Order: sequence, then structure tokens, then C-alpha cells
Amino acid sequence: MNKIETVKIPRHVAIIMDGNGRWAQSRGLPRAMGHRKGVEAVREAVRVAGDTGVGFLTLFAFSSENWTRPETEVNDLMGLLKAFIRRDLAELHGENVRIRIIGARDNLRGDILPLLIEAEETTKANTGLTLVIAFNYGARDEIARAARKLAEQVAAGVLRPDQIDAVALDAQLDTQGIPDPDLVIRTSGEERLSNFLLWQAAYAELLFVPEYWPDFTRDVFYRALAVYAGRERRYGGIAAAAVTG
Ligand code: IPE
Ligand code: IPE
Ligand code: MG
Repeated sequence: MNKIETVKIPRHVAIIMDGNGRWAQSRGLPRAMGHRKGVEAVREAVRVAGDTGVGFLTLFAFSSENWTRPETEVNDLMGLLKAFIRRDLAELHGENVRIRIIGARDNLRGDILPLLIEAEETTKANTGLTLVIAFNYGARDEIARAARKLAEQVAAGVLRPDQIDAVALDAQLDTQGIPDPDLVIRTSGEERLSNFLLWQAAYAELLFVPEYWPDFTRDVFYRALAVYAGRERRYGGIAAAAVTG
């Protein structure tokens, strides 16, 4: 491979997979074709993450706001998720991939939830790449649900209000047990987070790439990892070079 192997690899990469619709429209195709092509990019991204030693790969697949899209498009996206799990679960399991799903579960259709649970249960003992699928996910909803769980514990008398801090809230998030993302990539040139991992990405490096998601090839992923390797993270401190003995 190239020199990426010798430079620092992010432990957790999170990707806002954007631009499927525009990819299709720019070719005169229906938006659904862009989503279909996007699934191939998902498969390649999972392979690259495994090959490069990224430990956690989070993919934003469907937001809590995406329900506002036309019903046909919502149906297309649900169908693709179901097909992906049905077709790819065995292979992912064979590659030692552990699957986690984050997002709200209460308003999911009856045919989706069992598949999500099956994917998690089948792969829960795997020790390779953790593939986190953000589905029906919105960060504000996730944080509100976490706050509600803490409030319920206080009401039940098992938690005191003064015990609520960032660590306690973090432990109630859907991402419990998953390290914060080191690198958040958004494709398609849009430069916003769109309600993705707002809490967890507090100190993530952000990278916005122009390619539409279906064009997110191995090379584009490698370039993103190279950019990350060149970034200096400070976490509120000062640059390493400025620290004197
Ligand atoms: C990303 O592509 C897929 C989802 C949000 C589900 P879009 O469907 O948002 O594509 P654009 O942004 O309209 O091009
Ligand atoms: C973010 O993309 C959600 C996903 C990638 C699943 P959107 O296309 O929904 O975001 P906005 O509406 O452009 O901000
Ligand atoms: Mg979009």
C-alpha cells in the first residue's frame, strides 16, 4: 500500500454520506439510482476501514429529518437498508465485523427493527472493525433521550442531580462504549453537520470533500486519511511544538 500505513490512522472515522441524489441527477438518472450506487460505496468504505486499521467506522445512513422526504424516496432508502443487511450480514460477520446501530427505535416499522437487532446480535462477539450505522438518527434526539433516562433515574431515586455530569450523560448516549470520532468526513461539498454526532464530535477533525457519496472511492478515502494524518489536535491545549521543557 502507500505511506498511510506508517502514519497515524484515526481510531474512529464517521462519515456523512451525502450527495446520492445529485450524483444521479447529474447523470439524468432518478435519485433512487444514486442511493443504490451509494451502497457500493458503503461496501468499499468498509473494506478500506478494515484494510487501514480504522477501528470504528460510523456511517450516517438516514437522519431523523429524512422522514420529511417524499414517501417513495423514504421507501427506497428503507428497502436498501433491508437489502443491505440481508445480503451483506453473512459476509460482514465472516470478516469479523461488529455491527452497532445508533438512532431512535421507537418509531421504526415492524419489518426493520428485527433486522437491525439481528445484525447486532449476530456480530456482537466479533473483534474486528466496528461498523456503526446511524439510522433514524438525530443528535438532538439522542441527547434528549439520554437526558430523559437520567431524569428517570433521578425520579426513581437511584441518581442524585449533582451526579449528572458530562460522563454520566455520555454513558446514556446510543454510542455508549464507542470512542468519540477522530475524523468526521462529509461528502458532496456541503459544509454542515446536519444533526450528526453533535456531542461526540466535540473535538473531531472535520473534513469536507467535494465528491458525491457514490464517488467516494478507495483513493478518496486514502486522501482523507492522509489529510487527517497531517492535522494537529490540541484539545484546548497548545501546540506540541510550543511546549518547552
Ligand atoms: C445522501 O444523499 C443519502 C441520504 C441523506 C439518505 P442525498 O439523498 O442527501 O443526496 P443529495 O444531497 O440530495 O444530493
Ligand atoms: C445528512 O444529509 C443525512 C445523511 C447523510 C443520512 P442530508 O442530505 O439529509 O442533509 P441536509 O438536509 O442537506 O442538511
Ligand atoms: Mg443530501
